[in-house]
Amino acid sequence: MTYSSPVQKELVNRSKAYLEGDAALLAQSPAIRNAQLREMIVFHEWRYYIHNDPVLSDFEYDQLYKMLEALEKDYPEFITADSPTQRVSSDVSNDFPTVPHLTPMLSLANSYNAEDLQEFDQQVKRMLNMAEDEDIVYAVEPKFDGGSVALVYENDQLVRAATRGNGQEGEEMTANARAIRSVPLSASFSDLNISKVELRGEVLIRKDKFEAINKKRAAEGISLFANPRNTATGGLRMKDPREVADRNLEAFLYTLGYATNDAGENKLDAIPTHYESLDLLEKLGFKVPIDGKERKLCKNIQEVIEFCTTWENGREAYAYEVDGMVVKVNDRTLQERAGHTSHHPRWAIAYKFAAKQATTKLDAVEYQIGKIGSITPVAKVAPVSLAGVTISSISLHNEDFISEKDLRLGDTVLIERAGDVIPYIVKALDDLRDGSELPIVFPDKCPSCATPLIREEGEAAWRCPNYECPAQVLQRIIFHVSKPAMNIDGLGRSIVERFMEQGWVKTLPDIYRLEYDKIAQLEGFGPKSATNLRAAIDEAKQNPIYRLLHSLSIHHLGKKISKLLAAELEHVLQLKDWTYDDYVHIKDVGPTVAENVSAYFSDPANIAMLEELEALGVNLTATEADQPVAAVTEGPFLGKTILFTGKLLQMSRKEAQEKAVAAGAKNISAVSGNLDILVVGEKAGSKLKKAQALGTVKIMTEDEFLAQIG
Ligand code: IVH
Repeated sequence: MTYSSPVQKELVNRSKAYLEGDAALLAQSPAIRNAQLREMIVFHEWRYYIHNDPVLSDFEYDQLYKMLEALEKDYPEFITADSPTQRVSSDVSNDFPTVPHLTPMLSLANSYNAEDLQEFDQQVKRMLNMAEDEDIVYAVEPKFDGGSVALVYENDQLVRAATRGNGQEGEEMTANARAIRSVPLSASFSDLNISKVELRGEVLIRKDKFEAINKKRAAEGISLFANPRNTATGGLRMKDPREVADRNLEAFLYTLGYATNDAGENKLDAIPTHYESLDLLEKLGFKVPIDGKERKLCKNIQEVIEFCTTWENGREAYAYEVDGMVVKVNDRTLQERAGHTSHHPRWAIAYKFAAKQATTKLDAVEYQIGKIGSITPVAKVAPVSLAGVTISSISLHNEDFISEKDLRLGDTVLIERAGDVIPYIVKALDDLRDGSELPIVFPDKCPSCATPLIREEGEAAWRCPNYECPAQVLQRIIFHVSKPAMNIDGLGRSIVERFMEQGWVKTLPDIYRLEYDKIAQLEGFGPKSATNLRAAIDEAKQNPIYRLLHSLSIHHLGKKISKLLAAELEHVLQLKDWTYDDYVHIKDVGPTVAENVSAYFSDPANIAMLEELEALGVNLTATEADQPVAAVTEGPFLGKTILFTGKLLQMSRKEAQEKAVAAGAKNISAVSGNLDILVVGEKAGSKLKKAQALGTVKIMTEDEFLAQIG
């Protein structure tokens, strides 16, 4: 899914209008509001989860989410399986096999102040039929900001670890979890007659360890990690467990969610409170929040509020990133009585700390030049620690951002990191000005090649129009070799820069005539890395042509359109003879891309460059991978939805899902009215029960499934 910039702008404006309570929008019919809220939430989730680049603060996003929840409460007929409220956010990718959790990994509802907590307390009491003035005992602990994991121990051995994934199933990463030293490889659950348990916790990195890693990376010229959370979640997904070990990750456990004995009987009842389950885990050698410091048993909501406030005030001094506190009803029987929604337990709530802010001095503005010449102003500020990260550069986006905020050199500015990730300048503190501040003068010439800058109609960015601009050439080469483009392993930004300094690389073709014996002599290289680089470059030469097209940095030509073009070609240079109409005839190719690609291929210099690449061995002929995947139009399961549950014996789950797709089916991840077929393997659990209860799902065994697809 992608969004064009006008659509994004519209969605952002509409979101702000909803948040401000725009009367005209709120007067629309419930069905229209439902559709609009869903569209906005899906968009913000895309910005946050896929691109790590949110436009709203967490708080604002939560407000939109709550509006949709409230609407669905009034109109339950709007709730369908694909509503954003009906899923627990997903990070499943295909790199690691998917495994089902023993019980769903839910999310948490949020609160932001003392009143919210009081309201939560009242709500819990109402649910439990308790008097308003009766007290509930709560366990309170930090809300660790890392990546969640589920650990399964069988017969005292760690047998499996998985990320949260979509809440129902996660990605298996046992080998990586074993590399985390605070995760015990075995623990004596058998002393309590427990043979199988599932524990939940958060994988984290200490703030000082994070800074040390970044310092080392800076010294080696490698790109820096954005924040501790990304370092931890990224660490969990490393291909090589040794690299996980190098990151010094840790795991805090906060839930004992499932425990059975050999006969499969529930053993959780033997541990009557949350607090005792943490005590037990602590005893068994797990890292859990420390009693009295990180966790506290509060005898009523007043004590909860005090503990949360103390933490909020002191959180900067804490060794780990914490974005709030988690408040849990301590008694397990009460928890069970309160139950849960499909999204969160009703007996627990997160108390979110306010966005972290700091002030600093705006010392200078630098201008970065992108691969198509866009100029991005970047503020250089006096280094300041904010939420565990030292910040010295902050993007100012474009000229309009600077003038709208009336920023000046020498200003004291208020900066914020909402939730996490990207720092943002909220405003200049203009009452602290003393008259010495200077206006920020946006350059009218390119800082790299001095060509006059241009700003096209409807574009926010100023651009350098000189295609030969050295800064652009560098960015284009960096993009050409990068993962989404030619994907040359081991050739990152800093190495490209070094090769350019040496004068070895000035153009794209130069990449393909590197002299590896010279590289082997370069400091920090050696024969082995030179050989590896050669292998990676040789491999890239055989890439499908859509990668090459994408790698050329033609404005607006993304991976998707590159694939559409590649599917129409036998050879890249056929594009020389294409007319504008040939482009726009392809579905999904718009006029802007058509013009840009057509202009690129009418320039003889570009054609000569491509011919040079071909002479150097780079593939310009369409390959099988350039052919579109034909839609399945027949098969025994055509148009049916399918779900696999339990352990399959004759194939992996991934293979099964691929076979199902080849037979015309669509894989879905949950049992609902939308599900047509459930294939059950060994030890199928709650999904099977739910499907049986629905009565509308066709249930088949693995053998029956294989027989049907022949
Ligand atoms: S309890 C069913 N406790 O927050 C209860 N979660 O927004 C849900 N988290 O995915 C989990 N610290 O990754 C719990 N002390 C803590 C936590 C915690 C961090 C994360 C967890 C979860 C997310 C929910």
